[in-house]
Amino acid sequence: MHFQWYPGHMTKARRMMQENIKLIDLVIELVDARIPLSSRNPDIDELGRQKSRLILLNKADLAENKWNDAWIEYFKDKGYLAVKVNSKKGGGIKNIQSVIQEACKEKIERDRKRGILNRPVRAMVVGIPNVGKSTFINTLAGKACAKTGNKPGVTKGKQWIRLNKGVELLDTPGILWPKFEDQQVGMKLAFIGSIKDEILNTEELAAEFLKLMQQHYPGIIAGKYNIEETGDVYEVLNRIAESRHCIVRGNELDVEKAAALLMDDFRSGRLGELTLEYPDRI
Ligand code: G4P
Repeated sequence: MHFQWYPGHMTKARRMMQENIKLIDLVIELVDARIPLSSRNPDIDELGRQKSRLILLNKADLAENKWNDAWIEYFKDKGYLAVKVNSKKGGGIKNIQSVIQEACKEKIERDRKRGILNRPVRAMVVGIPNVGKSTFINTLAGKACAKTGNKPGVTKGKQWIRLNKGVELLDTPGILWPKFEDQQVGMKLAFIGSIKDEILNTEELAAEFLKLMQQHYPGIIAGKYNIEETGDVYEVLNRIAESRHCIVRGNELDVEKAAALLMDDFRSGRLGELTLEYPDRI
């Protein structure tokens, strides 16, 4: 799903978030495991002040596991509980309910001391577009689910998904706006397909992506497309076009098509598990 962001859109997202956040105890923030910082919006720290917090490194299946673990440590050092998940296939989802309890243990303890027992924790999923919020909610709800709210005689309002006796989840996620003012961040968001390709043309985007690959994962592109890599990323694109028979008008190389194919291979994990930013290089 692609979003075009403009100030009105952002204001609306922020207002919705402010309203919904009042209703909940726990913010479950999804980030993309391949770019855990670039796929965050730090405004959530302000919006989610005084709430329990949990960060999920989603799409962990597409990122390198050693870096997933390093990011979990990084967030832990900053005082957040963080875990890795694969919402699409359900990896890590089984433990989520106990992780939620863990993230809210101070609140549960506070309630207990005040004599409030069995009040369920209410949670909301938030994140920038395309990090997998709906997939996560559906996978989690599919495992648990009984929808609450909209009982006869009750005004139609928020829908809560009862995960178990102790946890209720708002069924609509909070959408955070991406931080595309920072060019490097915008670029990485474009790599993973979170913001429109039109921001850069596909060829330029693929060329930038190839530079990153040469820096962090030398050899992967050569192996995948069975080509010899050179330092010139536009030449590499030509060679991918050749190797994949991307041809237009009889015999001209269709470099645009090769660029789209390369980005698609990366986004769907066909280049392997790749992480594009690293906690020790911030
Ligand atoms: P959003 O609500 O945050 O905007 O994201 P959404 O759930 O729509 O997910 C965006 C894309 O990311 C979807 O792919 C979804 O399948 C994929 N996705 C979500 N979680 C994971 C995950 O943990 N691992 C992997 N590999 N992919 C994940 P899509 O291309 O839009 O659709 P489709 O390919 O599933 O049909």
